[in-house]
Amino acid sequence: MSSESRVSVIILAAGQGTRMKSGLSKVLFTICGRPMLHYVLDAASALAPQLIAVVIGHQGREVQASVQEQWAADCPSSAGRAELGFAWQKQQKGTAHAVMSAKPLFTSENLEGDTLILYGDVPLLSGEILKGFLEEHRRERADLSLMTFMAEDPALYGRIIRDRSGAVARIVEARDLQDHERNVKEVNAGIYLVRSHLLFDLAGQVDNNNAKGEYYLTDIVGMAVERGLRVCTYGCREEAVQGINDRHALATAEGAKQREILTELALSGVTVRDPNSIYVDYGVRVGEDSVLEPSTYLRGKSVIGPGCIIGPGTLVQDSEIGQGSAVSFSVVERSRIGSHVTVGPYSHIRPDCVIEDGVLVGNFAEVKNSVIGKDSKVHHHCYLGDSTIGEGVNIGAGTVTVNYDGRHKHRTIMEDRAFIGCNANLIAPVRIGRGAYVAAGSTITSDVPEESLAIARERQVTKEGWVRKKQQEWDQGR
Ligand code: UD1
Ligand code: CA
Repeated sequence: MSSESRVSVIILAAGQGTRMKSGLSKVLFTICGRPMLHYVLDAASALAPQLIAVVIGHQGREVQASVQEQWAADCPSSAGRAELGFAWQKQQKGTAHAVMSAKPLFTSENLEGDTLILYGDVPLLSGEILKGFLEEHRRERADLSLMTFMAEDPALYGRIIRDRSGAVARIVEARDLQDHERNVKEVNAGIYLVRSHLLFDLAGQVDNNNAKGEYYLTDIVGMAVERGLRVCTYGCREEAVQGINDRHALATAEGAKQREILTELALSGVTVRDPNSIYVDYGVRVGEDSVLEPSTYLRGKSVIGPGCIIGPGTLVQDSEIGQGSAVSFSVVERSRIGSHVTVGPYSHIRPDCVIEDGVLVGNFAEVKNSVIGKDSKVHHHCYLGDSTIGEGVNIGAGTVTVNYDGRHKHRTIMEDRAFIGCNANLIAPVRIGRGAYVAAGSTITSDVPEESLAIARERQVTKEGWVRKKQQEWDQGR
């Protein structure tokens, strides 16, 4: 790589995000289940930079941990990718001050080529747009390029002020506008490419004589023009570079991202029955020919196999579901479900379950920290907690594993082909042997050997004619 074509990136993520009105750093707010900043990092990576410097401050430790986690997960090998560095900006004195905080991360090598500056609050930005921006910057042999867009409502964006010839003169921040500048619709997207050696020279000379008393990075544009440097603009669509400053903008951006995810799924062969009521997190995978029914949520690190029907009214969180399974009106959390399994309607698979192929988990069942073996059936109103269930087990309506003694949890084991009659209480720890039967209504307190029948209930007493006799007593006023 020639030194001229080097790219470094600075991402500004130190601000609090006052307008979010939150204790959480703005860049950690999620969009489709993923922190905003992660999208920005992805977009930046598309330029194959040598260095990505993230400026952190407000909740810096959390921001750093979150970025490092993504870095490790997305790119497990370190070969051929950017060096990732963090720069602390202890006090947030403005965007130029933030850029200066990153200077110590730049070696003399990094000072060759160009630096891309991004704000951490532009999650809809794509790598494609940045590639186009970089090409244009190089074609124009610009010293400084900035992205601009025509804002429907320029509101708090910095305005691009041009001279009579149409060339950029400077950026004026919303608070510092003079009346005649207020109508300018062309605004600053906050995305810049600057020759690296010029960047710190310019940013270091910015002052804070403005309405907010901050060191504005936007001032480097006017300074570059005054020095006779080549300054170019690159127009883009508002939707692509919208800055998220409050929760209204967050909701709008999330809606846009969600539509993008659902469109991609639909084009990959998934039926998305009602895009307005289906929510799929970034990174969730769904196999071909699966159907997502209305009011369905696929969250976290979920993977759905091909040919499944998920929903209506279903939440799948951090779970895997095999091929050809159906889950309706149910909640599945942090569990693994095999192929050709039916869950629901109205069941809750709580964390740490493994539900093997061909299992039926029927109406109103709750399962927690349990393994259910192949082809077993758990119909109707059951609670199975901390249990290990073999293959071909039949669990009758109302079966409850009594797993908690008030202090400790205990396991229930049901071996292959065991048959549990309705309304049985299995008081753990307890083992039901292979092929054993438990009579309906039993409260089982000790192990049942294989192929035996356990009955643990009062023998029925029938008092013939009891009602007639009682009636006579009542009639005689006794
Ligand atoms: C900024 C631009 C504005 C532009 C808009 C585009 C400036 C002065 N203004 O305004 O021209 O139209 O973005 O979205 O740059 N940050 C730090 N340290 C600081 C201050 C901010 O790291 O001391 C970070 C924030 O965390 C944020 C980013 O910089 O990610 C931008 O800051 P923000 O306050 O959102 O700037 P805007 O007012 O939106
Ligand atoms: Ca902003």
